[in-house]
Amino acid sequence: MPYAKIIGSGGYLPPRVVSNDELAADLATRQIETSDTWIVERTGIRQRHIADAGMTTSQLATRAAQIAMDDAGVTADDIDLIIVATSTPDFVFPSTACLVQANLGAKGGAAFDIQAVCSGFVYALTTADAFIQAGRAKTALVIGAEVFSSILDWNDRGTCVLFGDGAGAVVLKASNEPGVIAAQLNADGSQMKILCAAGNVSFGKVTGDPFLRMDGQAVFKLAVNCLAKSAHEVCKQAGIALSEIDWMVPHQANVRIINFLGRKLGIPDDKVVVTVDKHANTSAASVPLAFDAARRDGRIKTGDLVMMQGVGGGFTWGSVLVRM
Ligand code: UT7
Repeated sequence: MPYAKIIGSGGYLPPRVVSNDELAADLATRQIETSDTWIVERTGIRQRHIADAGMTTSQLATRAAQIAMDDAGVTADDIDLIIVATSTPDFVFPSTACLVQANLGAKGGAAFDIQAVCSGFVYALTTADAFIQAGRAKTALVIGAEVFSSILDWNDRGTCVLFGDGAGAVVLKASNEPGVIAAQLNADGSQMKILCAAGNVSFGKVTGDPFLRMDGQAVFKLAVNCLAKSAHEVCKQAGIALSEIDWMVPHQANVRIINFLGRKLGIPDDKVVVTVDKHANTSAASVPLAFDAARRDGRIKTGDLVMMQGVGGGFTWGSVLVRM
């Protein structure tokens, strides 16, 4: 049975950077108080990239995908599977993956979206791995992409300071050499209320609440516990010890969650990739953007063992172990 090997990666962030100070000044015009100090101390976030009006998830996804394909040395003709993880698709349908396929000039292969919020990329990677292992795809594009700014309530300081926009992508290829070596996904739908955007477009109107709502403390606690358990389980599945992991690439929501998790697992800080300071929380894009950043600056190298972890709305979480 072939492995799914990562042969390329790419990231794309919209050009507009909004610092904490700039955001705080904007919120102050609406009598909403926040500060760079509060945001940095509670989250580690210093800035975020925000898409300009009219910039869509499929556009960000296409840019990241093209960079990943160039990095992998493949063309649109080689791609026989496209999976986009997103909670902010361009349309109800067609899927963002179909729009990306058309933008890239790829034809004929399967293309679909996965909706697992901030766990979306690890869900998509696990799905693409299963397609490749089963012989149903040979070269897959796996993308996490979001214009999360479009579902934020910019009058809710408890959430609007936390998120940003962007896209990250990897190209997976069927290979006899190890690539994805273990994966495990979880969900607990009974926890849906702690993080949701419980709105819908139906009968020509928005029904329910179109904005993201979060019980931050409940999410914080669940995230640390779920990810710690998932890390142990995925390592057990692969028959490796946590100490063998070269790089941990966790979901980038809050540097305090990342630090707690690293400590709980005994993984030293210098093996943990952190981009939340620059990107904020880009939901499904956060893990592939962090992975790509660490690959490009030379930290993640061929042969390294990488653990990627996602957690978020649903409630969903999961881990993927990859040999580079
Ligand atoms: O990707 C999905 C996963 N999401 C997450 O992982 C997020 C998980 N949760 C968190 O990261 C943290 O819970 C937050 C960053 C959201 C909040 O940090 P916290 O330390 O849990 O703060 P808190 O919610 O307990 O709020 C503390 C205080 C409150 O004021 P009082 O009640 O103590 O007077 C809030 O009203 O901070 C206030 N506050 C703010 N103050 C300034 C909340 N947001 C802000 C703000 N600026 N932006």
